[in-house]
Amino acid sequence: MTDQTLLLGRVLRFTGDPFAQGIEAAQIEESGAVLLSGGKIANHGTAAEMRVAHPQARVVDHGGKLIVAGFVDAHVHYPQTGIIASWGKQLIDWLNTYTFPEEMRFHDPAYAAEIAGLYLDTVLSRGTTTVASYCTIHPASVTAFFQAAEARNMRVVAGKTCMDRDTAPDGLRDTAQSAYDDSRALIGTWHGRGRATCAITPRFSPTSTEAQLEALGSLWAEHPDCLMQTHLSEQKPEIEWVRGLYPNARDYLDTYEAHGLLGSNGLYGHAIHLEPRERDRLAEVGAALIHCPTSNTFIGSGLFDMAGLMAEGQRIGLATDTGGGSSFSMLRTMAAAYEVAQLRGTALHPAQLIWLATAGSARALRMGDKIGNISKGMEGDVIVLDLQSTPAIAQRANRATNLWEALFPTIMMGDDRAVAAVYVAGRQAV
Ligand code: GUN
Ligand code: ZN
Repeated sequence: MTDQTLLLGRVLRFTGDPFAQGIEAAQIEESGAVLLSGGKIANHGTAAEMRVAHPQARVVDHGGKLIVAGFVDAHVHYPQTGIIASWGKQLIDWLNTYTFPEEMRFHDPAYAAEIAGLYLDTVLSRGTTTVASYCTIHPASVTAFFQAAEARNMRVVAGKTCMDRDTAPDGLRDTAQSAYDDSRALIGTWHGRGRATCAITPRFSPTSTEAQLEALGSLWAEHPDCLMQTHLSEQKPEIEWVRGLYPNARDYLDTYEAHGLLGSNGLYGHAIHLEPRERDRLAEVGAALIHCPTSNTFIGSGLFDMAGLMAEGQRIGLATDTGGGSSFSMLRTMAAAYEVAQLRGTALHPAQLIWLATAGSARALRMGDKIGNISKGMEGDVIVLDLQSTPAIAQRANRATNLWEALFPTIMMGDDRAVAAVYVAGRQAV
């Protein structure tokens, strides 16, 4: 028996960043092959040369379908699976009306386990092989998520969401000390175990006291290889709220910076209405900004400045932000990123969209050497996209004269039917 699988198809990989280097950073092998072995991408090349080099491998011929790295969703809330697409509210009312009541249900570890499994199976079927997820204030919600990911052998990031201010409801608050202690214990158990990474997770400044932000800043200083994820400048009324709660802060980012929560391993979700000082500091430290386009339109937050922020050299990832976001699918999320950029006068190229959903998000999560690309030695998280998954898409793709024209209709119109196969750590999961 061999554990070698040779996938044949059109292979798309990146040799660099198409925002900085142009679309030449995307490499297309029309008749390509990817060898999966030992959970890794062991080799890639043309189908002809790879068949000769690896005659013992089991061959799976995906024909004209497109082989790319699994999608990386850099900001999600798995506990919000049950309230996705909830009607009629903007951020603060949406949190109070839909989100917080649902998150209270996660005091029950059995419910957390049920939703964690449902969530991960849902995203896997849409081609997402890595997510960075918020959990709830309950440590068991983190355990449930890491266990569900471990059972599927998925590389994931997660953290206990911390909230201790009275702006969060009864039953959904921790304390500065318990947030520190519980987060620390979870890091001890899970950080670096298998494919798990811990993120220290203050939800956002409005639901934490300065004492809690300070405690979590100290925890991050003690575990600098952990990620830190939070929300930043998502909606104008939220920014006004922060101004009222933190009268001494220079701006929203300063509420984190003043407490040790600004750093290169920091992930700042949304980052829409940034001040010049905030943009300068984020670029200076090399922090990651996470663009959540379906959420930003669904909750009515605003239009992320992709072109301007990229031109400044910011590190940017792409995310669904389920369930503020209205989709589990990174295809739908790429489409929304395209639409939002159009509203700001920029047409993102399909190479840039796919890069954001794979290598760009992996780089944002500081995992660009492990996932998000098809490259020798990287982990075997690979998906196969059918570029003709519905008659409507097929009739459009049939007119294409190159791969980009063939791919773009799937980015704009594709759903889970476009995801023909998903390989996680070298094994077929879907
Ligand atoms: N800001 C604080 N919490 C949340 C959340 O759960 N979703 C979104 N979109 N924004 C937030
Ligand atoms: Zn979020």
